[in-house]
Amino acid sequence: MKPDIYIGVMSGTSLDGIDVAAVCIDDQFSFLAAQCIDIPAELRRQILALTQAADNEIERMGRLDIDLGKLFAASINQLIKTADIDIKRIAAVGCHGQTIRHRPQAGFTLQIGDPNTIAEITGLTTISDFRRRDLANGGQGAPLVPAFHNCIFRSAEKNRVILNIGGMSNITVLRAKTASSVIGYDTGPGNVLLDAWINKHSGTPYDKAGQWANSGQHNQRLLQALLNLPFFTEPPPKSTGREQFNLDWLERVISDNGFKISPVDIQATLLEMTARSIADAINAENLSDPELYICGGGVHNHTLVKRLGELIHTTGITTTEELGLHPDWVEASAFAWLAHQTLNQLTGNLPSVTGATQERILGGIYQA
Ligand SMILES: Nc1ncnc2c1ncn2[C@@H]1O[C@H](COP(=O)(O)OP(=O)(O)OP(=O)(O)O)[C@@H](O)[C@H]1O
Ligand SMILES: [Mg+2]
Repeated sequence: MKPDIYIGVMSGTSLDGIDVAAVCIDDQFSFLAAQCIDIPAELRRQILALTQAADNEIERMGRLDIDLGKLFAASINQLIKTADIDIKRIAAVGCHGQTIRHRPQAGFTLQIGDPNTIAEITGLTTISDFRRRDLANGGQGAPLVPAFHNCIFRSAEKNRVILNIGGMSNITVLRAKTASSVIGYDTGPGNVLLDAWINKHSGTPYDKAGQWANSGQHNQRLLQALLNLPFFTEPPPKSTGREQFNLDWLERVISDNGFKISPVDIQATLLEMTARSIADAINAENLSDPELYICGGGVHNHTLVKRLGELIHTTGITTTEELGLHPDWVEASAFAWLAHQTLNQLTGNLPSVTGATQERILGGIYQA
């Protein structure tokens, strides 16, 4: 029997955990099992430190590359064990890696988590480094998930928008007309600023269900100052990361304008800014009666989802669960799908999304 299971590994900007998903791809796509594995606090601290320029980066990156490779391998082995997956059926692992720098304007992006280490420990063919070929071809290297969304979520009758609210937010616009090309880009922050601000004030990793934000009032002047960022009005293709949306930027906007705002009202303002930037992007597509499906950890922020429902012109707002894939596992499943593409010499990027000049087979293959 030809191996038909692919394992996707995604550790996103939020650093909330490592998502591992196993999917079956033959004539059809089907989800098998998934798990989220914790990132030890010290490793998380080291990753965060590498997302900002500092001393002796190459040495620290080299060590972390291996440590993360080991953690990814352990996460894969753990899923195989808990979901009782027949190892002979596994065709490949697709590992996104941990982004420590994403600078598409300068032509580079960097994800770490050594695939050689993963292949050694798991004994599985491992595919990684999915983004750089697209960049070399003139693209942003991101987002890559819209090709997967297009493959499994597109409808012939309905206009659909898939919204992923991870650390950053990205949208995929799937028009019902099959000939129309897919549009997809990062709209700006997802959970990243909400996480950073509550973490600074109460030490908790995220604002559970958006309750803290919901107990404050957004400040109109701070909201405007934040939304003034040129990124929001730049036309796609565009992608972003922690380089742009971080606490230093937020605190600079607050101090430059001399704003005196309570922490809870700042959280409420960050939520409003996140919701508006997403809604403005979707509304600007002028789709007739679009269906909106949300995925990513942001679906658990009820305040944010409620606000999106008020701001976005749509027939209804729900999660990708309605389309058969739980919102927590879409991104990891996408990297399993991208591994399938690469292993079968199929292209993985969409030039209409990333801005690359051509479709390309993505990533490097590290044989079992
Ligand atoms: N119960 C909850 N209430 C509010 N927010 C939540 C809850 N559960 C998860 N989240 C948010 O979801 C985030 C994790 O989302 P996700 O895993 O999709 O992001 P990511 O790993 O950064 O992925 P991406 O690569 O798409 O950026 C958490 O950091 C948190 O902000
Ligand atoms: Mg995550």
